[in-house]
This record gives sequence, C-alpha cells and structure tokens, in this order.
Amino acid sequence: MPDDFDKSEHGLHPVSIELLHGLVFISFCESPPSLKNAIKELADPLATFDTANLKVAATKDYPIAANWKLAIENYQECYHCATAHPEYARMHTLMLDDKMQNRVQGHMLEKMEACGLKQVNIDYVDTAARPGEQGYGFSRTAMFEGYKTGSKDGEPVAPLLGRLTDYDGGASDLTIGPFSFFLFYSDHVVGYVFTPVDETHCQCRIYWMVRGDAEEGMDYDRDALMWLWDVTTCADERIIVNNWKGVNSRYYQPGPFSEMESLEQRYIEWILRELKTQF
Ligand SMILES: [Fe+2]
Repeated sequence: MPDDFDKSEHGLHPVSIELLHGLVFISFCESPPSLKNAIKELADPLATFDTANLKVAATKDYPIAANWKLAIENYQECYHCATAHPEYARMHTLMLDDKMQNRVQGHMLEKMEACGLKQVNIDYVDTAARPGEQGYGFSRTAMFEGYKTGSKDGEPVAPLLGRLTDYDGGASDLTIGPFSFFLFYSDHVVGYVFTPVDETHCQCRIYWMVRGDAEEGMDYDRDALMWLWDVTTCADERIIVNNWKGVNSRYYQPGPFSEMESLEQRYIEWILRELKTQF
C-alpha cells in the first residue's frame, strides 16, 4: 500500500467487551446496555465461586434446527422438566409446588452459611432490567436431599469451588442478558450460551467449568462432569425441534401459559418490547 495508507481507517470493526469476574461478554451492538451494576452487585456472589480462576474442562455444541427464541423459551421454564428430563428431575426441585419447594429450600438455607455461602437474590432479568442496563439475575435453589451436586449419584464430580467449605445441596442460577445462563453447583459450573444462526437454526454451546487448579483424571472425570447436562440438552434439542414443527403447523394455535412459565412469559414480553423500541 502507498506510504500515506492509514491502517487505522481500514481495521476490523470494533466490538464492545466487558469482563465480569473472569467471564468475557462481547456485544456487537453500537451502544450495548451497561453491565456496570451487574459487575458491582455480582462481585461477592461470584467471588464465592472464584469465577475469575475457573478452568473450562469441556465444551460441546448442540445445533438445534429451530428458531432461537424457542430454544431460549425452553431454557426459561421447567413445565417440561418432569416429563422430558427424568435425570434432571430426580435431583432438581424447580418443578415442585411452592409449599414443597419452600420446605427443601429451608433445609439448604440452614446449611448455606456453614458451607461458606450467602443467599443472594437478584432479579433484574428481562423486563425487570433497569433502563440502559443489561438484565441480570442470581439466586440459589435447593436440590433434593442426598444430592450434593448435579451428578449421576449426587456425589461430587470435582473439587469444591472458591471459598466453599462444604456442600449445601444447592445450585445457583446466574442470568446475564438474553442469551447467557450459568448454573453454579458447589463443585462445578455449567454455562449455556445460545446463538441464533438463522431464522430456522440456532445453537447452544455448553461450557463445563471446574476449579482452576483441578486436573483431569485426578480431580475430575470429563464424562462424569458432562453427564447430566449432556443428556438433558440432547432431550431439550428434541423437544425444541418438535415445538418448532408444531408452531409451523397449519393447525397451530397458541395456548395459555402455565403458572410454571412466568419467566418465559416475561422473556416474551421483553422481546416484544425490544421489537417495538428498536424497530
Ligand atoms: Fe429442558
């Protein structure tokens, strides 16, 4: 190129990047919603699990032949869990009614402090996000008694994370924006990133993360670590694709939301609101 060629005028397009305690968030829009308060408010809960020093032990891509909105809707509700996910449903309690849920939750709350955990409930997800900010949420939910973590027999599959000193039998949900979800067991973290590919295809990439100093073969077994969310996501892929066929059928008509689908309903309200303000 000639001497007066200005490289700064011909570079790659810039993207916005934010670091959230070791997690890297990239936005392709010109002025992304702020993560400032999320970074501040999530500092302590994420320091508990030492997210900045996690190690990615495994990743797997799950291509889904359906529109991305159906895939994310599916992640937002547990109405389908009991029937679609026998492995998940025998340890997680999200599909219990409030009374039963409160009882198991109570047992976990009593144990949390002694295990090095504090209960933190944050809900600025989707339509609850503050103006100009990315939505985010954090909370911990008890698993059934006998389950220390999300594994086949409920026994640990990796060393305890961060500042944790024992197993409280819970798992924390972290939501950041519309496409990223994380589940914090006491000994590993599962991250789910949904990516729209085109109108009729999307993808879910799952990250399994363990303590930064954990060694494969010594401290964890990759297959044991991946088991629950691999089998669960394969089942989700099947029901999302079936749903997609259903909504494209000429017989399709929308039905009412169940009471267990309040997060999904909020998500849809958020999409509709965004469509009105962006276009
Ligand atoms: Fe599911």
